[in-house]
Amino acid sequence: MAAALHVRLAEVPAHRDDVVIAFGGGVIGDLAGFVASTYARGLKLLQVPTSLLAQVDAAIGGKTGIDLPQGKNLVGTFWQPLGVVSDVGLLETLPSEELVSGLAEMIKYGLISDPRILEDVVAKRDEILRASPAVLADLVARCAAIKAEVVSADEREGGQRAFLNYGHTVGHAIEHASGYEGCRHGEAVALGMMAAAYLAAELGRIDEEAVRLHRTTLEAVGLPVRAALDLDSLEEAWDRDKKFRGGVRFVLLQSIGQPEAGIKVGRREIERALTRMAE
Ligand SMILES: NC(=O)c1ccc[n+]([C@@H]2O[C@H](COP(=O)([O-])OP(=O)(O)OC[C@H]3O[C@@H](n4cnc5c(N)ncnc54)[C@H](O)[C@@H]3O)[C@@H](O)[C@H]2O)c1
Ligand SMILES: [Zn+2]
Repeated sequence: MAAALHVRLAEVPAHRDDVVIAFGGGVIGDLAGFVASTYARGLKLLQVPTSLLAQVDAAIGGKTGIDLPQGKNLVGTFWQPLGVVSDVGLLETLPSEELVSGLAEMIKYGLISDPRILEDVVAKRDEILRASPAVLADLVARCAAIKAEVVSADEREGGQRAFLNYGHTVGHAIEHASGYEGCRHGEAVALGMMAAAYLAAELGRIDEEAVRLHRTTLEAVGLPVRAALDLDSLEEAWDRDKKFRGGVRFVLLQSIGQPEAGIKVGRREIERALTRMAE
């Protein structure tokens, strides 16, 4: 797909000062960003995200990525766009399941950075699910600001950018196990955040109240919180993941709003967390 787009740019023909506009959801943003970053050693890029998930997350931060059958985002670059133009009016046509999928990343920001987002998502759930532009404009701007701040401080993921992967260690493995079909990114991340909550509770890092906050917030917007996950399939995905040389690592909370990255967890704790996930 990417190569076909490079050929298309050559046919146009595109020049170094042309701007590629990525207009679409996160998949289009990642693909257009990758093609823009690799054609003629890099074309300018403007992100115009049209899904909630892309507006709060994927379009910001300059990561581009393409999945291979062997693993997610195995091909990719860092390539910052000139800018990100998010019009929440575009979300009115977004299917409601996609809106809900984007809410998982929004809840992620609440859990790792600003707990008021969790209160607002639950209190304004009905307006959000009706794609109310006023409510979404406020929440999208707050989430985008968190992502932009984290990425500005750590573009290449040497430190705090890893916090944005909260819920993604298990989430990406679920996507891998499902062959990237039948499971939306946000749904997988919701389950991944639940797994991270149970793991953190197993390790005595957070209390049951914090676990409950994960569950009630995700459930309030219709995200999944329960699943029977097979550890062998998750481990197969982790073995292939470029991030996990020397063993799988998790982002876990110390408390709500206080994440810590790079945490190794024993197989027994993972098994116990997965047992709770299935209950
Ligand atoms: N680069 C990053 O930093 C980053 C971060 C998070 C996620 N991602 C990637 O983003 C992808 C998920 O993004 P997504 O959730 O936007 O999925 P998506 O791009 O597949 O879009 C979801 C669906 O909504 C449709 N759609 C998009 N905008 C619409 C609109 N305004 N009206 C009607 N339909 C619309 C799309 O055609 C698609 O069918 C994943 O592949 C994930 O890996 C990348
Ligand atoms: Zn994500």
